[in-house]
Amino acid sequence: MIEARQLTKTFRDRKRGEIRAVEGVSFRVEPGQIYGLLGANGAGKTTTLRLLATLLQPTRGGATVAGFDVVTQPAEVRARVGFLAASTALYARLTARETLAYFGRLNGMAEADIAARTRSLADDLGMHDFLDRRCDKFSTGMKQKTSIARTLIHDPPVMIFDEPTLGLDVMAARTIVQFVRECRARGKTVIYSTHIMSEVEKLCDVIGIIHDGRLLAEGSLASLRASYRENDLEEIFVQAVGGLAAPAGGNVNPP
Ligand SMILES: Nc1ncnc2c1ncn2[C@@H]1O[C@H](COP(=O)(O)OP(=O)(O)O)[C@@H](O)[C@H]1O
Ligand SMILES: [Mg+2]
Repeated sequence: MIEARQLTKTFRDRKRGEIRAVEGVSFRVEPGQIYGLLGANGAGKTTTLRLLATLLQPTRGGATVAGFDVVTQPAEVRARVGFLAASTALYARLTARETLAYFGRLNGMAEADIAARTRSLADDLGMHDFLDRRCDKFSTGMKQKTSIARTLIHDPPVMIFDEPTLGLDVMAARTIVQFVRECRARGKTVIYSTHIMSEVEKLCDVIGIIHDGRLLAEGSLASLRASYRENDLEEIFVQAVGGLAAPAGGNVNPP
């Protein structure tokens, strides 16, 4: 459903020179799977996800999403992808319902379908209390739910979540995590980026550890634990990125 092949993105920055944001990243995500992209700030998560969503062009390599090529068929890809970033913005003067209708129309949906889909998303996300209030009066949690709903209004088969719980309180974050799980249960192909170990442990079927633009380790939590002979994901992460020396006699490299 998602296949990245040697995906590479280089930025040219006047001060920093050439920045290899993403370097030869390859992975697959199947329908009904949550792929977790785990990495620190600046690791290349957002760039990878923006390449998949066709918001950026790869410097080298490529990807297919829902069977379409991100370089040669960007419109087909976009129609099948819901992209939610932490910074996804809302129009202050629209209500939640108007926001959903606006993005539904942008996606070419009929009014009746928009109304039905709005009801179902409001049920799923618990939005009925504030559906007809203006977005500028919303709490962070309400804004996040509205952003999620507007991302999913066209019911795309592929969902891309870029650190969706960033800045949310515990309860709002739990709602998001539960919602991502429901997406999987409905057979969506989900890719989820975060720097939070516990979210990855709770959510992801496959974990890709990304650092300095490179995918350094990949596998289920169980298989990572087995190959690193280590239970704690944070410890596995540190070993994978080679940041800290292992304790004396420790095994830095996986067997
Ligand atoms: N538009 C851009 N121009 C220049 N450098 C960028 C741009 N976008 C991202 N970068 C750089 O690419 C690297 C990866 O960034 P990013 O993909 O945002 O990482 P993450 O989402 O994991 O924090 C960082 O060094 C970042 O500064
Ligand atoms: Mg990011």
